[in-house]
Amino acid sequence: NGGNKVDKIDRFSINNIRKEYLNFFKSKGHLTEQSFSLIPKNDKSLLLIGAGMAPLKKYFTGAEIPPAKRMATCQKCVRTGDVENVGLTARHLTFFEMLGNFSFGDYFKNEAIVWAWELLTDVLKIDKDRLWVTVYLEDDEAENIWHTKVGIPMEKIVRLGKDDNFWELEVGPSGPCSEIYFDRGADKGCGKEGCTVGCDCDRFIEVWNLVFTQFDRQEDMTYLPLKSKNIDTGMGLERLACVMQGVDNIFEVDTIRSVLNHVCDISGTKYGSDYKKDVSIRVITDHCRSASMMVS
Ligand code: SER
Repeated sequence: NGGNKVDKIDRFSINNIRKEYLNFFKSKGHLTEQSFSLIPKNDKSLLLIGAGMAPLKKYFTGAEIPPAKRMATCQKCVRTGDVENVGLTARHLTFFEMLGNFSFGDYFKNEAIVWAWELLTDVLKIDKDRLWVTVYLEDDEAENIWHTKVGIPMEKIVRLGKDDNFWELEVGPSGPCSEIYFDRGADKGCGKEGCTVGCDCDRFIEVWNLVFTQFDRQEDMTYLPLKSKNIDTGMGLERLACVMQGVDNIFEVDTIRSVLNHVCDISGTKYGSDYKKDVSIRVITDHCRSASMMVS
């Protein structure tokens, strides 16, 4: 039925998911703002904005008063650290949009976790059974909220160490985090024994990172406690769309696929017939997006 198909595509489209996210957090009392520039302002520690929280660092540290204690954005981000994975994995891009909700000394773990679950499962209707979560090794409090308030079975809550579940930049606000993963199914995985959340393959894909921002990392790598406890969450819009649209990889979500199709048109190539060419097509698509955004 053509009508239903159009509705479904529209509901799961990148533009609609972005709108649903921001509306949801507006309904929870957040001030929603446009994306800040990719070029950091008054921040010598960063070359490019690579996270939703980066333009808001001054509010986390208390250097400036935020316009509201609760904010939500969809931030343009460039991350060059993943550049070698682009085109090869289902989930990496150098340019992406990060959906984020932030609390500056207002709500903390409880609300951040419960609202994340409400948005994913009630509003966006993602199948609960396919979601897993991780918490920082020592974070009994987050584990307890996931288990007792949200109802996640203990076997689907995985404790991970600092490499995975502690979020920080070179300097600035940082803290332990809790991540939400979507299981794309065994056919998308490496098939190795013990493949589970935290494996490098494309089966369990991290969609949302909830950071419990409590520290201010200094240049000498010491962590000073921040005056107040904060929340910084980040969810890759394109990854979420990949999961919701049920496509094989991030290059096949609606808006990126349009760029990819154009790359094929002007280069006279066909996507999906030769693995090596497909990787190249994905790399070119990625780099066109990033370059365009950086130029703009
Ligand atoms: N700062 C965290 C991240 O970039 C959450 O927003 O993943």
